[in-house]
Amino acid sequence: MISQNSIAQVFETARVEEVIGDFVQLKKAGTNYKGLSPFSEERSPSFVVSPVKQIWKDFSSGKGGNAVTFLMEHEHFTYPEAIKYLAKKYNIEIEETERTDEERAQADNRESLYLVSEYASSYFQNVLHKTNPGKAIGLSYFKERGFTEETIKKFDLGYSLDEWQGFTDDALGKGYKLNFLEQTGLTIVKGEKRFDRFKGRVMFPIHSMSGRVLGFGGRILTNDKKAAKYLNSPESEIYHKSKILYGLYHAKQTIAKEDNCYLVEGYTDVIQFHQTGITNVVSSSGTALSPDQIRLINRLTNNITVLFDGDAAGIRASIRGIDLILEQGVNVKICTFPDGEDPDSFSKSNTLEELTAYLEGNAKDFIQFKASLLVKEANNDPIKKAETIREIVNSIAKIPDQIKREIYIQECARIMDISENVLFTTLAQINNKQAQDNNKPKSYTSSSSSDPNEPPFEVFRNEEPSRKPKVDIQYELEKKIIEILMLYGDRTEQFEDLILQEDETSGELLLEPTKHEARVFEKVYLDLQEDEMQFSNPQFKALYYSIIDKLNQEEGFLTKNFINQLDQDAASTVTSILMEDERYNLHDWERNLIIPKEKKDSVSQLVSQTILSLRCHLIDQKVAEYKNETLKENVDLRVIMEDVKDYVGLKMLLSRKLGKVLG
Ligand code: CTP
Ligand code: MN
Repeated sequence: MISQNSIAQVFETARVEEVIGDFVQLKKAGTNYKGLSPFSEERSPSFVVSPVKQIWKDFSSGKGGNAVTFLMEHEHFTYPEAIKYLAKKYNIEIEETERTDEERAQADNRESLYLVSEYASSYFQNVLHKTNPGKAIGLSYFKERGFTEETIKKFDLGYSLDEWQGFTDDALGKGYKLNFLEQTGLTIVKGEKRFDRFKGRVMFPIHSMSGRVLGFGGRILTNDKKAAKYLNSPESEIYHKSKILYGLYHAKQTIAKEDNCYLVEGYTDVIQFHQTGITNVVSSSGTALSPDQIRLINRLTNNITVLFDGDAAGIRASIRGIDLILEQGVNVKICTFPDGEDPDSFSKSNTLEELTAYLEGNAKDFIQFKASLLVKEANNDPIKKAETIREIVNSIAKIPDQIKREIYIQECARIMDISENVLFTTLAQINNKQAQDNNKPKSYTSSSSSDPNEPPFEVFRNEEPSRKPKVDIQYELEKKIIEILMLYGDRTEQFEDLILQEDETSGELLLEPTKHEARVFEKVYLDLQEDEMQFSNPQFKALYYSIIDKLNQEEGFLTKNFINQLDQDAASTVTSILMEDERYNLHDWERNLIIPKEKKDSVSQLVSQTILSLRCHLIDQKVAEYKNETLKENVDLRVIMEDVKDYVGLKMLLSRKLGKVLG
């Protein structure tokens, strides 16, 4: 584990505008920077970075946070990966907290495997580009396949010499330990003998999502029928083939941006797609698609388009993969290529425009896809048709989302020309059977009862006419209070409190303004406490107490430090609150050269106004509650009316104060 100390140091040093500046072109705009959102396609900038608050907000996607969250969103790093990245950028040495010897040994071992793999990758590239056999055999093979120099470099392709231990000897000579060479499978050890696993093959390094080399695929160049065409790294502590997707590192940003991932079979499909200009593509590298692989994609998008080679065998084999994707709640489309073509050959012989048009024109949802197989196989055979329908419903049954299931049932009914009722009944049967098989009802089976009289499927329809969402006043005011505390909590302000006083001569009640100084957070806290006011939103409530707590303890409260201590969810909420006002400034700056009015001018006014509004709102609610009470039977109306009168009086008083505050 990285020590808290190091994490704090990283946060202390990292500047959000510098970190983001490495990925997004930022322009100064007032006190902030802005740029084009890296998370969506846009023409006018809606991405704002605040150097003062040390946070960023993307108004087009709604994302926001600090430097670390940016790296997690943009580079898809895990939290420790992001911290390490920043440490490297700012030359901060990371301290690791005490680990058990076993933990340390394991981490060291893994790290060594990474280092060996990293070295091997650079070695194979060097051989490819710098040695005669590399150029004559490896490089010319890739060129023949139509890969450009740029593509070859982008994917770090390499060549392993046709020698028994060329690589092994070199690596040992450089001080890499045989143990690690063996664990990564780069070297095969037999007694005293050592062999290069990838002897005489062109090399495709396989990267993790964050770009580290995990293993290799190596393609043979001869037509030796006995040897496997592709050889892959064996399972190791860093290479788990069911958790790896080839190309993910190079594709992750476009997958997120395009909100779709193309899934192909092989290394060369991925590479050729890139070269043609489609970069949101990954490959399961010849293994059957696994749930872990789908989850990897699902971190980036909820949509997968599976691309099949033209041959029928491939199609049949991959149908299981479709159900697996549906089961994970991911939307799937399928696109097949003309007979004899695979994504590699097709993209090689077509332009980007042609390829894009083909994919758009031929991607079908799984129902259309299965239905089209039927048309191909047995045009009007009723038995085949029944089988196909059952297969489609089987797939539909895998989808966790009930609404989607209903939509697909409707589509299936339409395409296959059969009544929805029959399909719903079939679906219920499948679900019940599954439930029995699993010995526990699945959460999404229609009605867990097997009573045949009950409707087999609950149909959700949008029966309520959609109403405009009402502004939730309390929510807005609670949010405002959090904002005030975050921005100005620490300041000392002049407050003008209106104190109720009896006029000595007339006996009339008057609001006398009295000035006093207070720290903003104390004022907020005491005023709210006076009404025993509780936040209704649990997240705001938690934030409120921790901010008050921090302000109480620390001199020089820093918003930036506070955000960094929050979990991701809370941090994102706070960021949104703090950046909300920037949204309105976004475009005016440019057009009107307006410097937004500093909020600070009227902090005390803002505080008083917000608290008074909240109190008024709470009283309105109370009064409404009492009104409901009076509708009940057996209530003492008099008591209620007394209470209401008190509240109305207080409300009037508060309104008067509010009126004064608002001037
Ligand atoms: N594969 C494998 N082992 C094999 C054959 C294939 O691991 N013996 C994997 C590779 O990841 C390969 C993918 O399955 O990329 C698809 O196989 P195939 O279609 O045969 O390979 P292509 O990518 O078409 O390779 P090429 O065009 O180089 O023949
Ligand atoms: Mn292929």
